Amino acid sequence: MLSSQSAPVVRATLPAVGASLGAITELFYTRMFQERPELLRGLFNRANQANGAQREALAGAVAAFATALVDHPDERPDAVLGRIANRHASLGITSDQYTLVGRHLLAAVKEVLGDAVTPAVAAAWDEVYWLMANALVATEARLYAEAGVENGVVWRDMEIAERTEETADTASFVLRRPDGLPTEQFRPGQYISVQIELPDGARQIRQYSLSTAPGRKTWRITVKRERSADGRLPEGEVSTWLHTHARAGQVLQVSLPFGDLVLPDGDTPLLLASAGIGITPMLSMLDHVATVSPDRPVVVVHADRSPTRHAHRLELTELVSRLSHASLHLWYEDGAGEWDETVAGEPGEPRPSVVHVREGWADVTGLSLPRDTTAFLCGPLPFMQAVHGDLLAHGTGPAAIHYEVFGPDLWLSK
Ligand SMILES: Cc1cc2nc3c(=O)[nH]c(=O)nc-3n(C[C@H](O)[C@H](O)[C@H](O)COP(=O)(O)OP(=O)(O)OC[C@H]3O[C@@H](n4cnc5c(N)ncnc54)[C@H](O)[C@@H]3O)c2cc1C
Ligand code: HEM
Repeated sequence: MLSSQSAPVVRATLPAVGASLGAITELFYTRMFQERPELLRGLFNRANQANGAQREALAGAVAAFATALVDHPDERPDAVLGRIANRHASLGITSDQYTLVGRHLLAAVKEVLGDAVTPAVAAAWDEVYWLMANALVATEARLYAEAGVENGVVWRDMEIAERTEETADTASFVLRRPDGLPTEQFRPGQYISVQIELPDGARQIRQYSLSTAPGRKTWRITVKRERSADGRLPEGEVSTWLHTHARAGQVLQVSLPFGDLVLPDGDTPLLLASAGIGITPMLSMLDHVATVSPDRPVVVVHADRSPTRHAHRLELTELVSRLSHASLHLWYEDGAGEWDETVAGEPGEPRPSVVHVREGWADVTGLSLPRDTTAFLCGPLPFMQAVHGDLLAHGTGPAAIHYEVFGPDLWLSK
């Protein structure tokens, strides 16, 4: 909790700090990478630095944490931090690194706000920083302990056992331990980080959701190649490297699984709504449900460009068909009519009655969802925000709607 001296100071200065958070976080990263350039090449995602997404995510998290502290000074708002702690754990962030970050963040606050930062203001914001930092360190320590590793020791060699081209833009990679032992356990919905050494010598790390159920001897990830949208922006660095170079037999540096968007145990009804490559955590959840509780009611919604761009479409259909109370609703921007040719198993085999294929944007308003449905969303932000709005209008409680963003979480700032 915030001390009684600092609470009024933070309350009084929150509007000024909040309004300058963009400038503060920009200066913070500039200062930190000047002192420690290897962090930009070997730990931080340099595309997110170039396009500003990480600055925005950090500013959003600090603002949300400080606002919650001011509104409820007696509580430490840990809820804001679960996603960040899991992301940090998947990168192997260590507690000693918080001193460096804190030093540069507070120096940036002083530089941007100038004389307004009196010693009392500096002390109050130092306290906010360390409340956040200590909460993150504690959660990360718990995550490392649960994973059975020392502080930050999350990286492993994993061999590519199989590579499969799923669509023109997506490939899946089955990963196994080089020592032949079973892969570590995880919860459906979690992801791993993959670390790649790029041609310029920089090591870049990206996250990929595990796309099969836990409890197998192998893990699988499915990677969409990030192409340059308009020819001006660079191609995605790691996904392009994986598509171009990664082959069966190669060994990748991979983290243990982390992530706070996980399937709850039990039998309550589920809605799994994804778009594009957002299908990956849903496949893991569905595979798990099909194995452990095939009677669980599940409504699956997936939106994609076209059936041929839809990765794992046959697998998705098969998984839904293994459940006794499930339906699959597919929306394609184009070519919905081609679905049967692209998915049919045996020639002439009818489409399972639980599969509904439509053309256009996904629309969940017409679906019949039980009141106690828990919803999981994954896909581009506009897709998730549209589904989220429709679900709230439908009567689903906000606490029952969970989402995963495949990048820094900018939901609150958009
Ligand atoms: C929890 C989580 C789970 C994920 N799961 C999956 C998954 O299952 N499958 C999957 O495919 N992906 C997944 N992702 C996304 C994945 O981690 C990567 O973000 C994705 O593969 C792109 O990485 P990249 O290195 O290829 O692209 P990057 O090099 O990171 O580039 C990303 C984008 O930034 C743009 N960019 C680069 N430089 C600039 C600049 N100067 N200005 C403006 N824009 C710029 C690029 O053009 C590109 O569009 C997940 C992400 C998270 C956080
Ligand atoms: C109180 C301190 C900190 C806060 C509030 C914070 C906040 C955040 C946030 C909001 C994200 C984005 C998470 C997401 O949306 O997925 C993030 C990611 C990250 N953080 Fe931190 N962080 C802190 C400390 C640290 C420290 C000490 C390090 C280590 C140097 C670090 C390294 C990273 C890295 C490498 C990423 C991923 C960046 C990317 O992929 O673009 N953070 N952090």
